[in-house]
Formats: sequence, structure tokens, C-alpha cells
Amino acid sequence: MKIAIMGAMPEEIEPLIEKLENVTTTIYAKNKYYEGTYNGQEVVVAYSKIGKVFAALTATILIEKFGCEQLLFSGVAGAISDDLKIGDLIIADGLCQHDLDITAFGHPHGYVPEGEVCIASDSYLRQIAKRVAQRKSISLKEGVIATGDQFVADPERKAWIGKTFNADALEMEGASVAVVCDAFNVPFFILRAISDSADMDANFDFDAFLESSAKTSADFILSMVEEITASNG
Ligand code: ADE
Repeated sequence: MKIAIMGAMPEEIEPLIEKLENVTTTIYAKNKYYEGTYNGQEVVVAYSKIGKVFAALTATILIEKFGCEQLLFSGVAGAISDDLKIGDLIIADGLCQHDLDITAFGHPHGYVPEGEVCIASDSYLRQIAKRVAQRKSISLKEGVIATGDQFVADPERKAWIGKTFNADALEMEGASVAVVCDAFNVPFFILRAISDSADMDANFDFDAFLESSAKTSADFILSMVEEITASNG
């Protein structure tokens, strides 16, 4: 079984690629895919570029071209919940698109016909994450992550997203990956380490903490791959 590990930005996958063995690279549809092994487990790692469209393209290619049967996403997010501080980890139990809006036709925010407002991530992979967190005494928050093609640096927008979707964190790719994986019936997991609080300081904090938070997330994902390998016997 091949596991896809994706991020949106180079900083989000560099700490993963450093740890791979037997690496081969393929350029496909203007992205670079790294095939290799970690702890004996076959993985394919890629970053998509920022935003929902690029993320959907990369997730689709990881599944359809590279044959990945599980997908783990690693990266950073802006905090909505006051519980979340820079460097903290959150796993998505559900993902929604905060910028998807056909409310003019009477539909709720985040909904289009034949879609869902919130897509649930795989519960087995979430269990694996909780086991890793417990073993390493890492605190892990679980909650809704809201996705949109927008860097949020505005307390009002952040509060609206939090209230409308009951979301704890926000970012720019997770829900599009969820849509793709759900359509292909591929179990997926979205992990984010907080880089900023989506407020007036968000762009400064993002620049300052991207690298360290991305590494926190990537290191946790590698521990999950070890746990998955161990539980597959
Ligand atoms: N990813 C990390 N911080 C973010 C923010 N404030 N808005 C959107 N995506 C983010």
C-alpha cells in the first residue's frame, strides 16, 4: 500500500523529503513528485502550491497516477479557536469550504447540490494520530478546519468563519483534498500546526513561524507513518 503525503508549500514537505530513502522524482502536470520509502513504507510526497485548485489537482494525481491508497496532509494553519497557539497541532475531523457561496439560491454557506458542507476525515487515521500523540505526550486538538482561497488576516472574517462553520482553524487546501479523496473513496487525514491567528499580525507571524510549524507537522506525520507500518504488522 502506497501512502501519499502532501503539503501546499515547499517548506511543508522539505522536512519529509530529507527523511526519505530510495528517492526518485517525477515531474508531472507542473509539479514534482518524490517517490521513496520511509521506515520501509512506500510513500509519494509532493507539494501542490497554494489554494484549493492546485491542491485538488495534486491529490487527484497522487491517487490516479501514483496509485496512493491513503493520503496524509501536512502543513500550517491560522488559528480560530483561542485554545490554539502558534506551534500547536490540530487534526481535522471535518473540512468545509468557507468561500463556497450560493446562498443567493437559499443554500447554506459551503454547500452546493450533491456536495456536503462538511466532509469527515478518516476515523482510523485519526485514531493513529491520537495514539502517536499519547505516546509522545503531544497535545492534539481535533476540530473542524475551514478552507478557502483567501489568506485570512482579519478578526471579523475569522470570527465569521468560526461561527458559521464551527471551525477551529483555517487554511487554503484541506477541504479540496477532502472532496477529491471522498470522491475516490481514499481515506485521508489533515494535520496542521498553527503558524498565526488569522488576525492583523497574521502575515508577519506566518512568515516568522511557517518553517518551524511546518516542521512540527511534518515530524508528527512521519511518526504516524511509523505507527501505520507497525499496526500493519
Ligand atoms: N494558513 C496559515 N495561516 C493562514 C491564514 N491566516 N489564512 C489562510 N491560510 C493560512
